[in-house]
Amino acid sequence: MKHRKPSGPKREERRPAGPGRRPEPALDPEPRPRRESVEEIARENRRERPAVEWPSGARPGFSTPVILEVEPTGDYALLDSGDGEKLERYGPLTIRRPENQAIWPRRLAPGAWDGADAIFTGDTDEEGAGRWRFPREAHGETWAMRQDGLPYWGRFTSFRHVGVFPEQAVHWRFMVEAIERARAESSRPVRVLNLFGYTGLASLLAARAGAEVTHVDASKRAIAWARENAEVAGLADKPIRWICEDAVRYAEREARRGSSYEIILLDPPKFGRGPKGEVWQIFEDLPHLLVLMRQLLADRPLALVLTAYSIRSSFYSLAALMGETMRGQGGRIESGELVIREEGEDARLLSTSLFSRWVSS
Ligand SMILES: C[S@@+](CC[C@H](N)C(=O)[O-])C[C@H]1O[C@@H](n2cnc3c(N)ncnc32)[C@H](O)[C@@H]1O
Repeated sequence: MKHRKPSGPKREERRPAGPGRRPEPALDPEPRPRRESVEEIARENRRERPAVEWPSGARPGFSTPVILEVEPTGDYALLDSGDGEKLERYGPLTIRRPENQAIWPRRLAPGAWDGADAIFTGDTDEEGAGRWRFPREAHGETWAMRQDGLPYWGRFTSFRHVGVFPEQAVHWRFMVEAIERARAESSRPVRVLNLFGYTGLASLLAARAGAEVTHVDASKRAIAWARENAEVAGLADKPIRWICEDAVRYAEREARRGSSYEIILLDPPKFGRGPKGEVWQIFEDLPHLLVLMRQLLADRPLALVLTAYSIRSSFYSLAALMGETMRGQGGRIESGELVIREEGEDARLLSTSLFSRWVSS
């Protein structure tokens, strides 16, 4: 595979700030190089790939649509949504951000929205840049959060994200149950591969449930944040390999080495960059990556979970791709959307992403 250095400015890599530390620059997506060079790099990389060899055999059974709903908890709640924004509670903080799915009116009075602890203003585009305002009182860059009893750091990043995608909780609980069941049934280790692992919550929940985890992300700063989360969660000594690499490149190497995993999680962005300038484009690269995932599944696999955000597609497309990937493996494929239910009376559902997951039983 060939690589080119991204043509944007070099980013400073710094350790994420903990509470009390000086605020540091937020975790930002890599600057996008000129369009032609992206296409050039992507074409070059793909030219060196062998043609995708699709598995044969019967497709697994399908359940479609499956709508997986996240309910409000003490850790997180969607308080209200509407008029292009959402108002959420993350632990002790209320946060107001753009949400272009929210094309309906709000339920709560303007005071509830204006009284938010943190307000993101800026580009309404999903990955658009902007800045945070703290109307009530000045706030540091990080704050203490919890996910199903696991402590971690929330962080205000300049691209609106805060270190967690709360709707992923439904996949995480499903994964933790699968790990615990497998461990109760057999003494074999459960190995989890978390590609595009971000701040590591899935990896940490898997490790806490007793799995051996390989966590891969292209961003050094995301890996540093995930490791800091491992420390605050008291899981720094668990068997987690932290790998800063391009997801496709890592998967190709793992396939050549004959590695295998019982559970694989994939949460790819629409567009991303590897640390050596590799280009990730979901529509072009996902089929190749999924077939590699099929090769990496162990003899008795438990699950392959794919989520996709901000793409112009349908869960039927993910389901069809997953069906081809898992031919001859039995099991079943559930596909649909991850949605968040608003808190309180007369709640609406906010759709966040599409998913397709293969499960062994
Ligand atoms: C949508 S986030 C994943 C969210 C995470 N799974 C969760 O739910 O908490 C996408 C992540 O993919 C990473 N990424 C982008 N391009 C990549 C690439 N080519 N290889 C590996 N990771 C990449 C980004 O650094 C980012 O952390």
